[in-house]
Amino acid sequence: MAKAEAGAALGELCSINGRPDGAVYHVFESVAKKYDIMNDSMSLGIHRLWKDILLHQMNPYPGTQLLDVAGGTGDIAFRFINYVRSQWEHQIRQKLKSHQNLSWQEISKSYQEEELKLPGGSQVVVCDINKEMLKVGKQKAQHLGYSEGLSWVVGNAEELPFNDSKFDVYTIAFGIRNVTHIDQALQEAYRVLKPGGRFLCLEFSQVNNPLFSRLYDLYSFQVIPVLGEIIAGDWKSYQYLVESIRHFPAQEEFKAMIEDAGFLKVEYRNLTSGIVAIHSGFKL
Ligand SMILES: C[S@@+](CC[C@H](N)C(=O)[O-])C[C@H]1O[C@@H](n2cnc3c(N)ncnc32)[C@H](O)[C@@H]1O
Repeated sequence: MAKAEAGAALGELCSINGRPDGAVYHVFESVAKKYDIMNDSMSLGIHRLWKDILLHQMNPYPGTQLLDVAGGTGDIAFRFINYVRSQWEHQIRQKLKSHQNLSWQEISKSYQEEELKLPGGSQVVVCDINKEMLKVGKQKAQHLGYSEGLSWVVGNAEELPFNDSKFDVYTIAFGIRNVTHIDQALQEAYRVLKPGGRFLCLEFSQVNNPLFSRLYDLYSFQVIPVLGEIIAGDWKSYQYLVESIRHFPAQEEFKAMIEDAGFLKVEYRNLTSGIVAIHSGFKL
């Protein structure tokens, strides 16, 4: 596709996003079924590592109430469930080790009691504007056996359908750059978090090494749309994704926006030379 044509396509795609009938909605509607396979192909599987790092940084405890906005096909939610379960198993092992004289029945009962529900009443709500992405996520959850403590809600990051001060943690992974009014989404994140709650955002950012940056640009503009065409039969959507990354504010600018929304102790951490960054802030 010629550059001018791509630019025009992007203009079209960006002009009316944020609404269910908007162009961004159609991008994700169109890529939903191939979203996971494209993610693996485009990032050579590295997105999995970045998401794991996000979970380690969150370090949720049994009982944590998580809202994952722009949660798409559930990658963050499933990691959260695994993480909380492994934390709980660790705790139970420690407890059982300190009670040496328990019978086999007592040990087995301790495990079974928490097996079906998420430990400590933890819950994760996946919220996304796109029904198709959520549909793929729900199918995945069913297939992988996740059900307890997991719910799926259609909603806009700019106007979340939740009460104030409801969640311990708010995450948004590769989602905020698609939102039309980022400041509004940040205010909504602040509103729905409990005092003491944490905001965590994993997003593409600005590469800080000039040589690596050139290689990355080459890969993004020359390879990703081609992969999009080959795997998903959709050049335009992947051209949009690449362009939207370049339009997103750099690390320091985004940090200032998070502070403007009222968050404190805001910091960020670059991963893979700044291809992505994790921003963190607290509602204190
Ligand atoms: C690149 S996907 C990321 C999905 C998932 N978080 C992940 O990391 O795999 C971006 C998601 O943002 C959603 N999205 C775009 N605009 C949104 C908005 N205003 N409110 C909520 N979700 C939105 C899209 O529907 C899509 O599912």
